[in-house]
Amino acid sequence: MSGHDHMEPITTMPVVNLSVNGKPARADIASDVLLVTLLRDNLNLKGTHVGCDTSQCGACTVHVDGRSVKSCTMLALEADGASVTTIEGMAAPDGTLHPIQEAFRAHHGLQCGFCTPGMVMASAALLAKNPRPTERRARLIWGNASKYLWAFLSQQPQLPVISHGQQDHGRGRRQRRRDGSAAS
Ligand code: FES
Repeated sequence: MSGHDHMEPITTMPVVNLSVNGKPARADIASDVLLVTLLRDNLNLKGTHVGCDTSQCGACTVHVDGRSVKSCTMLALEADGASVTTIEGMAAPDGTLHPIQEAFRAHHGLQCGFCTPGMVMASAALLAKNPRPTERRARLIWGNASKYLWAFLSQQPQLPVISHGQQDHGRGRRQRRRDGSAAS
């Protein structure tokens, strides 16, 4: 019997090649590793957070080939060949914030901040796909983020969003109440 008969079979880890925030990335990973784990543990991109780990909270949202994806629901191997953007890739190279990040900053849209990266990513993907979403559509995408998204939209004169008039109407009613004038 030759020595080769007792050799263990050579197992190799699958390799994933992808682009992350515009830079090529490569990792040897087990086939059950999630995209969020690849980003956080292998690539040290800690801005993508894990909240529920059950595809509900959206804290782990990133863009995969321009689509908003909860990275806790996607295997890293499924992202092979894809272009992934995380919150670290949203600002310009000179540090200028993405307009959605700027809107969150301007409107103090942080709360505890844990979910904010995912909210920014989901909001940016929504607006990239549909610059004039209805409020209902925005709330379907992300209930909490929608109020910041609308705060942002309401300050963009080039984006005449459908429910803009409703917002103005509500603001007018509040103002009249403060002024003591009769509500219409
Ligand atoms: Fe909550 Fe991914 S961690 S949806």
